[in-house]
Amino acid sequence: MPFNKLQAQIQKTLLNTDEEVTQRLHQVCVLLKETVSYYDWVGFYFANHESKTLHLKTYVGEETNHTVIPFGKGICGQVAVSNSNFVVPDVKAQDNYIACSISVKAEIVIPIIKNGKNIGQIDIDSKTADPFSSEDERFLEWICEKVASIL
Ligand code: SME
Repeated sequence: MPFNKLQAQIQKTLLNTDEEVTQRLHQVCVLLKETVSYYDWVGFYFANHESKTLHLKTYVGEETNHTVIPFGKGICGQVAVSNSNFVVPDVKAQDNYIACSISVKAEIVIPIIKNGKNIGQIDIDSKTADPFSSEDERFLEWICEKVASIL
């Protein structure tokens, strides 16, 4: 895994105050999708706790209709309420799943926690079956911590 090498680039990207935060997050999506062969769609959703909905801030990959997701709905919506990582090796085995593309086989969603509050998440779809390991989880948790620290 190229995770070690990527960490330095991601850190640099996130700390680049010459760019708006959304632009920095977008660049992280691009870096991840371009570097990790089985990351096919990478996006950041952020929570609106009043309306209990997630809002897609930026992404790379196929266009999606799911720019607003109610808490509790789909993998993303479940993470908004569970505050825990959700690794899905096979999306077909999930009842509460929102399909974005029929070619997606697996998904991983990691919450972004700031000051103890679940403020959003990184969501990654893969066209490869069962591609995610605990290494992906630790790596993406690290990214979410760094994202929280710049918000
Ligand atoms: N599959 C997600 C919806 C978002 S798309 O992956 C971009 C879900 O079930 O929450």
